[in-house]
Amino acid sequence: MTHADESGTTASAVVRPTMISMKSVQKHFGALHVLRDIDLEVPTGQVVMVLGPSGSGKSTLCRTINRLEPIDSGTITIDGKELPAEGRALAALRADVGMVFQSFNLFAHKTILENVMLAPMKVRKKNKADAKAKALELLDRVGIANQADKYPAQLSGGQQQRVAIARALAMNPKVMLFDEPTSALDPEMVNEVLDVMVGLAKEGMTMLVVTHEMGFARKAADRIIFMADGVVVEDSTPDSFFTAPKSDRAKDFLSKILGH
Ligand SMILES: Nc1ncnc2c1ncn2[C@@H]1O[C@H](COP(=O)(O)OP(=O)(O)O)[C@@H](O)[C@H]1O
Ligand SMILES: [Mg+2]
Repeated sequence: MTHADESGTTASAVVRPTMISMKSVQKHFGALHVLRDIDLEVPTGQVVMVLGPSGSGKSTLCRTINRLEPIDSGTITIDGKELPAEGRALAALRADVGMVFQSFNLFAHKTILENVMLAPMKVRKKNKADAKAKALELLDRVGIANQADKYPAQLSGGQQQRVAIARALAMNPKVMLFDEPTSALDPEMVNEVLDVMVGLAKEGMTMLVVTHEMGFARKAADRIIFMADGVVVEDSTPDSFFTAPKSDRAKDFLSKILGH
């Protein structure tokens, strides 16, 4: 095993260990074969954007990575550790993999601050003072420190989604998964959420992002995965995907989504 040298003395030979590894992953919903032999290696710090038509398996892919969905066969590892099936090991793994969905799912009867403090206290066993300090720092980072004592319903959709990101970050995750985080937002709120994600990417977070924001994908992705019918059809750089897609499926997808 090689490990990245964190001393900084060998900066020229940066080793980027694999953070997410999927090998021969198969997943069915009944007769429907949703993930067909997926192989995907994501190095630490890479920002992967997953594109593809509705129903192609993008959400299922995300959900298998923190085992919200079990897989039929194959292996998935996070930071070298295979996904545990259940119990405390699974809870620990989930804590390492932050997930942000289209719907924010904040606790309605808790303040913004309490929403962000909750999981670190329950799962990471942080004391209240530490959890609060960290939560305030994260709310500041996503630009809503001044809303800490409000309730979710008092915030705009864009603000609520930024709280959801802060809440995921409060667990100190190794990986962040985003499943269409801006799809439920009014257009004028999309950028404030994308800006937070760009900031995270710059700080070196390993990210897998399902998105329909093509401008964002092209600008902020290190790598584009294009899925159709449960298969990774293209795996390329943003420039080559957007300027010279290879498959008919990708050409068709891009012409529909960019064609107006
Ligand atoms: N829990 C489920 N039970 C049955 N079928 C499902 C379930 N979740 C997703 N599917 C089906 O699996 C396919 C892939 O879904 P999904 O991963 O949500 O695709 P995408 O996110 O790319 O739109 C779709 O045909 C969808 O209807
Ligand atoms: Mg989806």
